[in-house]
Amino acid sequence: MSQATGALYETLARYQWWRRRWSRASAGEGLEIRKRLAPAAVAPEDSGAALDRWLFELANVGDRGDVLDLGCGFGATLLRWLEWTDGRGVGVTASPFQARSAMGEAARRGLADRCELRVQDFTQAIAAEVDAAIAVEALGHAHDLATVLGNVARSLRPGGRFVWVEDLLAEPFAAEGGRDEDVDELSRRWFSPPLRSRQAARDALRDAGLTLVDEHDLTPRVQFATAAAVARRAARLARWRWLPIPPWQRLADAFLGGCALERLYARGVACYVVLVATAPPR
Ligand SMILES: C[S@@+](CC[C@H](N)C(=O)[O-])C[C@H]1O[C@@H](n2cnc3c(N)ncnc32)[C@H](O)[C@@H]1O
Repeated sequence: MSQATGALYETLARYQWWRRRWSRASAGEGLEIRKRLAPAAVAPEDSGAALDRWLFELANVGDRGDVLDLGCGFGATLLRWLEWTDGRGVGVTASPFQARSAMGEAARRGLADRCELRVQDFTQAIAAEVDAAIAVEALGHAHDLATVLGNVARSLRPGGRFVWVEDLLAEPFAAEGGRDEDVDELSRRWFSPPLRSRQAARDALRDAGLTLVDEHDLTPRVQFATAAAVARRAARLARWRWLPIPPWQRLADAFLGGCALERLYARGVACYVVLVATAPPR
């Protein structure tokens, strides 16, 4: 992982943790580090527990499945999944602070003996054999997606499922040599590769030997502010960024990247997609 991505998430994680404390969140609440979806009457009804439950069903984890969460953050999904299965779980994150916090929360919920948190890059080999793997808003940071998906494929037992939730481009950019100002800014602020297209994600799964079996588009549930509101927020953040305090600048970059992503949704060119793929049967 680039050191910059690791530092970005370490700062963001500490910020989010303090925000939870300020807002007096109860233990175990607000652990998600992902976008809030508009509530709905059908599954997934929200982007917290309901989304995780729906993803759990899509991943076919069952009562005893072992699971892997790539880019697990504070363990929102991983820990819920472990409450719904008797299997074991491994979470991978770039942030030592996230891993420590998630482990503390696992202990609080009585899950510590079935749960392992690893601080490692998901391009490094993942020593785990599981029935299901999940990645929520994490693989967009992977510069070498083929290696990450190869690791996923190797860690899945025959017939195991991989559920991948990601911001993608609905269509690849054909104009202007494939460049786009918002895609470029997002990539620069988050030290990530340019947003991939939906088709590129499908192709990458196929190239890793995983078979796409299901796909859901949650884009209509993604919320974004008006162009004027995003512009005002971005201008404020850009001013804050002048303060020569590196963690402050990293935080501003994280949110400026978020503004670029919001603009892509407002323009109708980004999509929020759930891809479900299986490893070959035995
Ligand atoms: C947007 S957060 C999503 C967290 C979690 N999936 C959730 O839904 O709350 C992205 C996660 O990906 C992790 N991440 C980003 N790049 C990574 C890398 N190269 N290797 C391992 N983890 C990475 C970050 O540490 C963070 O935990």
